[in-house]
Amino acid sequence: MSKGKLITFEGPDGAGKTTVLEAIIPLLEKAGYQDIMTTREPGGVAIAESIREVILDVNNTAMDAKTELLLYIAARRQHLVEKVLPALEAGKIVLVDRFIDSSVAYQGSGRGLEKMDIQWLNDFATDGLKPDLTLYFDVTAEVGLARIAQNKDREVNRLDLEKVDMHYQVRNGYLQLAKENLERIVTIDASKPLNQVIAQAIATIQEKL
Ligand code: TYD
Repeated sequence: MSKGKLITFEGPDGAGKTTVLEAIIPLLEKAGYQDIMTTREPGGVAIAESIREVILDVNNTAMDAKTELLLYIAARRQHLVEKVLPALEAGKIVLVDRFIDSSVAYQGSGRGLEKMDIQWLNDFATDGLKPDLTLYFDVTAEVGLARIAQNKDREVNRLDLEKVDMHYQVRNGYLQLAKENLERIVTIDASKPLNQVIAQAIATIQEKL
């Protein structure tokens, strides 16, 4: 049994979860939580970062949806074994930018792959490990896409090039996941001003810790 806490950050592209994650680390440290580790998927360790490059390469337009899913799952496994599990065993609070729910929302709702298959593959990759808490940053596809368009520094990846339709489906997938996992997933309205979103994220995490 792990001693730490696994907290995941989820949401459609443009929800701002990565910005919020960066902002809350110093705030959590100030509140007395010292042993925090942050990481992201896909990536976080060398093998998984290599897989990430393949997945997100804008030239890989020939990639099949199941291939895409399997690559995310492979990156998840490696990242978990090499980085997340040791940190949890050391008692750390591990904050992860994207985890199992991204596969269900993007490859399930977005790409139309069978959700039962994805859940099974997630369980296979994680040996059934579930986050202690998931913050779901909710924005409409319109708001998310408008934010991405505004952020000129953001690197464009292959999934950003998907049609608007996919962004709608991803959000619907997240809303359904949130409804089905009320004990784990807390929904945060990420269309609100950033300071309010950060405050709600911190409050939710502190309640859990
Ligand atoms: P990234 O640049 O990390 O986007 P963000 O900052 O929004 O997290 O790119 C990750 C992309 O990969 C993002 O579009 C979501 C997608 N993704 C999946 O489709 N399935 C998954 O299982 C994961 C982890 C990510």
